[in-house]
Order: sequence, then C-alpha cells, then structure tokens
Amino acid sequence: MRIGIIGAGFIGRAVARLAVKHGHEVMISNSRDPRTLTSAMISIGCRIGTATDAVEFGDVVLLAIPFFALEDIAPGPFAGKVLLDATNYYPARDDQIPALDSGQATTSELVARHFEGAKVVKAFNAILERDIEPDARLVGAPDRRALPIAGDDALAKATVAELLGELGFDVVDAGVLGEGWRFERARPAYCVRLDVAGLEAALANAPWSSLV
Ligand SMILES: NC(=O)c1ccc[n+]([C@@H]2O[C@H](COP(=O)([O-])OP(=O)(O)OC[C@H]3O[C@@H](n4cnc5c(N)ncnc54)[C@H](OP(=O)(O)O)[C@@H]3O)[C@@H](O)[C@H]2O)c1
Repeated sequence: MRIGIIGAGFIGRAVARLAVKHGHEVMISNSRDPRTLTSAMISIGCRIGTATDAVEFGDVVLLAIPFFALEDIAPGPFAGKVLLDATNYYPARDDQIPALDSGQATTSELVARHFEGAKVVKAFNAILERDIEPDARLVGAPDRRALPIAGDDALAKATVAELLGELGFDVVDAGVLGEGWRFERARPAYCVRLDVAGLEAALANAPWSSLV
C-alpha cells in the first residue's frame, strides 16, 4: 500500500518506520521544503514530498500535525481519500476550541469538516509514538495490543483495520466519529496499553466530562 504522511514529527516518523518495515511505500512531508527531510528519507527508507505530494501519493493518508495547523492544510486534494487522523487536542498548544471544550464535536469531526469529501478514520491518536514500534506484534501474539478506531465510512474503517492489523495491532471499532471522544485525551483508553477486552471495556466505560 502507498501511505502518504502529513507531518514528519514524532508520530509521522514512527508510523513511517513501521510501515516501511512491513513493505509499504511511504512518503513523508512537513510544512517546509521537502529537502529538510532528506536525512529522514535516508534513515527511514521512504520518499519525501510536499503535503500535497503526499496526499496524491497515498492510497491512505496519515494526518500527524498539531491540531492548530489544521486550517493551514488545503483540503482539496483529500477528496475521496482514506484519511487516518492521529491528531489530538491540547489547549496549551492548540488554544481553546469551544466546540471541543463543550463536547459539541470530537477532534476528528472537526478534521472531517475541514477535509470535506475525505473518508476520515480516527486512528493512531491513542498510542504514544515511542510505543508504536515496540508494541507491534504478529497476529495471535498473547500480548498483542489493541488500538481504537472510529469513523463514519465502513469501507474506510475496514481498510484502516486491515492496515493496523498488518502493522501489528488488534483493532477495536469505537463507532462513528462522534464517538471518538471515548479515546481522546485523558480518557481511560488514551495511550494505555490494552488488549481487545480491556480496550472494549475502557471505551464502554469512558466517562464524558469537559476536559477544559
Ligand atoms: N507524539 C506522540 O506520541 C503522539 C501520539 C499520538 C498522537 N499524537 C498527535 O499527533 C500530532 C503530531 O504529533 P507529533 O508529536 O508527531 O508532533 P511534532 O513532532 O511536533 O511534529 C509535527 C509535524 O507536523 C508538521 N506540520 C506542522 N504544520 C504543518 C503544515 N501546515 N503542513 C504540513 N506539516 C505541518 C511539522 O512540520 P515542520 O517541522 O515543518 O513544522 C512536523 O513535521 C499531534 O496532533 C499530536 O497530538 C502525538
């Protein structure tokens, strides 16, 4: 599979390394001239390009940027793409966003609003970048970690679940994008190493409360 990655920081590089290890073709991008990623290209074994190049390259596209940069990314090229949304909302970094503070929307719903026409699947937001490679396991490993996903498009979710499974994780579907709050920051399923049963319980028992 071809995976385009927007954001070549901690999470973008960790996913890129794991995907390359599993034989996928990857293109990473950042906010600057792609030549700033030359050393990463060599070390990871991936391609580099602009954000638009990465979107066009990817069968799936990973969004791995700070939430505050969302509006800086032109939405046009994303139409029809499966978009894995790894972003999280940290008010200290991203400023207060009333729709998120009040629970009127989830982060991935705002991402889907911005990238209208993209098939957004919330994924890779609830695992620390430093855990991505060491926690990946072969299918059937007794200590295989489960990751949550959410999305409004069943086919896109199936594509993402298959990819995550191949990369080394079990998957628990938390429902539509509106249910994504269940594994956003500070919830019991957020960045905690859990198996399928543990993750299902953490998602089901997540208490809703304002995180302001
Ligand atoms: N770190 C984690 O463990 C982790 C885990 C799960 C989810 N997340 C979430 O994933 C997102 C990224 O986190 P991170 O830790 O990887 O951040 P990071 O290390 O700061 O990297 C951010 C990347 O986004 C790029 N970027 C910023 N604005 C951009 C724009 N307008 N166009 C294209 N690229 C742009 C930056 O490029 P420049 O260098 O050119 O600015 C940089 O490559 C955040 O929303 C975070 O909350 C992080």
